[in-house]
Amino acid sequence: MRIVRTVADLRAALRLERAAGASIALVPTMGAFHAGHEALMQAGRTADVLVVSLFVNPAQFDEPADLAAYPRDEARDERIASNAGVDVLFAPSADEMYPAGFATTVSVAGIADRLEGVERGAAHFAAVATVVVKLLGMVEPDVAFFGQKDAQQLAVVRRVVADLDLSTRIEAVPTVREPEGLALSSRNVHLKPVDRERALSLNSALRAAEAAVAAGARDPRAIRAAGLDAMALHGVEPDYLELVDPDSFLALAAVNGRVLVAVAARVGGVRLIDNTLISTHQGA
Ligand code: PAJ
Repeated sequence: MRIVRTVADLRAALRLERAAGASIALVPTMGAFHAGHEALMQAGRTADVLVVSLFVNPAQFDEPADLAAYPRDEARDERIASNAGVDVLFAPSADEMYPAGFATTVSVAGIADRLEGVERGAAHFAAVATVVVKLLGMVEPDVAFFGQKDAQQLAVVRRVVADLDLSTRIEAVPTVREPEGLALSSRNVHLKPVDRERALSLNSALRAAEAAVAAGARDPRAIRAAGLDAMALHGVEPDYLELVDPDSFLALAAVNGRVLVAVAARVGGVRLIDNTLISTHQGA
């Protein structure tokens, strides 16, 4: 595995491969690797060359304390990436990503203003979209992999790629969970043992919503209420629990076809998000 820190070295590392006709996959990350990241890397192995970017993007953190507390262990990440068959680990400095004079922001209207956009501020998804467009421009991958875990980020990225006519194919990878159902997240390391049980409330809410739909419920209010009840059993009140269209993130008046149930909650000071995609059409 090669570790490169500059855009020039990254391009040089990929030039010969690309000229030889190799396909290139990109997995963008902020490091602190867990099995969710490894699932993305595994999916990326289908390309000839797998590039993983590791950059804790300061611009997308709305709380300075969250940025300061973000787990970092590059030596560990290098070992995991190497074992996962990553060819190129691109780990640039903040100055390399945002040199003096940097002035462009990619902002996505609509999707980015809802749910996480409300909770974290409109600048969050603009910062994500901007750094992802930069990474796509640097690597020019045939395919890039994103986790379903961050469903709204995925929808924002798909929107940007379609709207800006970028040629990279965007692939979603299913959410990796602990055996009890907690979705893996780099922030889980901050959960105290007593909070781990309460953290299961998000998964419980999603399973309750799924069960309600399976039992025939089609009114979003009834499905939402089932989810809220499940969270209340854990003593957790969500920041939001919403049924939305998976592409536009608009609230749904009725459940018919594909619906995304998205939930966010603060548990012991740690902000957790999760979601599930439900289809009321068989085979859809
Ligand atoms: P990060 O939080 O490191 O996540 C990197 C990728 O891993 C994202 O696509 C995310 O959805 C995916 N991921 C995280 N937890 C997962 C899980 N439990 N199962 C499956 N996939 C999971 O998301 C970011 O970084 C940044 O916003 C980034 C896209 C790199 C831009 O800075």
